[in-house]
Amino acid sequence: MYNKFKLSQKYLRYYFTASNGKGHGIHSPFVFDFITNVLNDKNRYPAYAVVEDLRQSLLKNSTELTVNDFGAGSAVDKTNRRSISSIAKNAAKPEKYGQLLYRMIQYYQPATVLELGTSLGITTSYISLANPGAEVITMEGAPAIATTALENFRLLKLENIKIIGGNFDTMLPQFINNQAFVDFVFIDGNHRMQPTLSYFNTVLAKTNQFSIIVFDDIHWSQEMEEAWFTIKNHVSVKCSIDLFFMGIVFFRNDFKEQQHFTIRF
Ligand SMILES: C[S@@+](CC[C@H](N)C(=O)[O-])C[C@H]1O[C@@H](n2cnc3c(N)ncnc32)[C@H](O)[C@@H]1O
Repeated sequence: MYNKFKLSQKYLRYYFTASNGKGHGIHSPFVFDFITNVLNDKNRYPAYAVVEDLRQSLLKNSTELTVNDFGAGSAVDKTNRRSISSIAKNAAKPEKYGQLLYRMIQYYQPATVLELGTSLGITTSYISLANPGAEVITMEGAPAIATTALENFRLLKLENIKIIGGNFDTMLPQFINNQAFVDFVFIDGNHRMQPTLSYFNTVLAKTNQFSIIVFDDIHWSQEMEEAWFTIKNHVSVKCSIDLFFMGIVFFRNDFKEQQHFTIRF
């Protein structure tokens, strides 16, 4: 993981070199539409308050959970205790990005959404509320965290979510083998190069031209930047959008040749 100084330097570079986020100079109609109707949709949807109320209550919850950390930089077999409030503070994607995922799902209406890394279910709740008719599958390796997420889904009466417990490395290939297609995937766990590339290649087998894959924290470390570079240049990717804290890839045939965009968000 880059230190704070290095990450800030990278962020400033992104901020001053990215397209201005209003769509000026973007020649792709698809990306222009994405910027106008999704990225810059300033509506305050009622679901936002529902999820942010949940986040606020989790931020005040001092209950401690035993956490088996599978993620980047931690030994797989190390167990430790963490409060729900610290997990809500440190692991959940901030409001701005949860709401962007909400708008993407509302706009593109994927039938099946897969999330790798449920944590307490804050982003999963955004995903679920964006399209209650979609099937949402979310994977989490730490049993105590998965149980808390399940309680949160019950509290919000979210009925379209299925949690799969276990390590992505084994659960993902099993799940993908039984799917015809994956429409929307959010990869937000185990931020290391090889696992990220492996998850990408596994889900790629079941993508079609309308599938969308979103990667979290693509500039978090050199490894993640290398993974993002490989992914966005993969022959099957038609368009990539770099929002610094998230990277999105599309496979649509509208793109005659591969195009990469970095957009200020
Ligand atoms: C960054 S958090 C997810 C945050 C969540 N998407 C949100 O925005 O609210 C990543 C989660 O992935 C889980 N995780 C990381 N690597 C994993 C692996 N290899 N298998 C299963 N779970 C894993 C961690 O336990 C952690 O809860």
